[in-house]
Amino acid sequence: MLTNIVDLPKYTKEEEVSFGGWISKKRSSGKIIFLEVRDGTGNIQAVVCQQNVSAEVWQLVQGLTQESSCYIYGKVNPDARAQSGYELTVSNVKLLSLAHEYPIANKEHGIEFLLDHRHLWLRSARQRAILKVRAATIKYIKRYLDDNNFIQVDAPILTPASCEGTTELFHTSYFDDEAFLSQSGQLYMEAAAMALSRVYCFGPTFRHERSKTKRHLIEFWMIEPEMAFVEHAQNLEIQESMLEFVIKEVLAECTAELKLLDRDLTKLNSIKKPFPRITYDEAITILHKKGFTDFTWGEDLGAKEERELAASFTKPLFVTHYPAKIKSFYMQPVKNRPEVVLCADLLAPEGYGEIIGGSERIHDLELLKQRFEEHNLPKETYKWYLELRAYGSVPHSGFGLGLERLVAWICGLSHVREAIPFPRMLNRFYP
Ligand code: 4AD
Ligand code: MG
Repeated sequence: MLTNIVDLPKYTKEEEVSFGGWISKKRSSGKIIFLEVRDGTGNIQAVVCQQNVSAEVWQLVQGLTQESSCYIYGKVNPDARAQSGYELTVSNVKLLSLAHEYPIANKEHGIEFLLDHRHLWLRSARQRAILKVRAATIKYIKRYLDDNNFIQVDAPILTPASCEGTTELFHTSYFDDEAFLSQSGQLYMEAAAMALSRVYCFGPTFRHERSKTKRHLIEFWMIEPEMAFVEHAQNLEIQESMLEFVIKEVLAECTAELKLLDRDLTKLNSIKKPFPRITYDEAITILHKKGFTDFTWGEDLGAKEERELAASFTKPLFVTHYPAKIKSFYMQPVKNRPEVVLCADLLAPEGYGEIIGGSERIHDLELLKQRFEEHNLPKETYKWYLELRAYGSVPHSGFGLGLERLVAWICGLSHVREAIPFPRMLNRFYP
């Protein structure tokens, strides 16, 4: 039976093993050829000695090109010099496919070239490390939520209405009707939270946004927890607990990957709750002191302002109580100060910007109806959403965590495009 490279150390020196893999490097010295073989689970050096293999196999191995695929047979030997601690003494090689000249060589390539070859670039050590961190991040987010009474509820992708404003919608059709690709599953999670108390969805979301920044994707993945009976303060506590847990676990599981990415682990190790909290008003005071004297109350924080604010802290920073007019229609206003809302953006350190947006939701039917008037929203399309407030409405809160932004921060990437397998950006949706 075929094994995986990661499992090779389980075999003794006497046992014959076999596995499938790709040749990443080949080097020969006389009657010995050293093959570096990768199978996604690990790498191993396979040593082919002319005297140990048939003449056909020796000839085959001599002709192997980078990324050629084969089945390899042999015995595992402990070898202190090898990175994995083991090497393979090869007895046979069966070729599956001889690779054409591989376009991604061991030299510098421009980013557009690499993105054009994303389907092949994924095989590089760096991209594989990022994919593993991404998978671990998803696993531990789900683990945290699953272990804390949350139930996963999937939200639809084809939707009849917007959640985060109409300017950023992808239009499509639904037979004879107009439909949109989901910007957020939140509104559906609010319905589900009234059935199950604590729920979350995790899926792709779409923003028709002409932003070409290091933090914007057109299609990205979002985790959206929604909690009945949870108010603003507790919403923030849940977010910081979840992030502390996720970072601790990902760090433990992906130490090797993060080291390969040259990530400074001490910075991530210090991410412990509680995270600092400042209000939007306090943020403005800080910005004014830092020389952003033109910034006036009511403006939204841009990437520059967020970076400046976060730079004063080593942990993620909650900025709360934004002006209602720059936030979404569903946010609960502050008592006695209705011009601001009970919301928080969580800004990651090291310039990564907003990774979470969340809020307490309006649960009063009359107030929500009033917001629909003010925002000119069609009451018919959102009839079901308003009805949630008619049948046992309760205070509730939730948040949306952008997976790629979190992964970019954990990995220390300069751009979110590497944090998703096949990025969709303003100027690209190939491959
Ligand atoms: O702040 P946003 O737009 O919030 C919502 O969609 C809420 N309905 C979420 C909720 O409360 N359930 O998006 C939430 C997060 C952002 O903080 C950011 O991390 C990520 O989603 N995000 C993006 N990530 C990559 N590219 C984009 N264009 C993004 N837009 C938002
Ligand atoms: Mg936001």
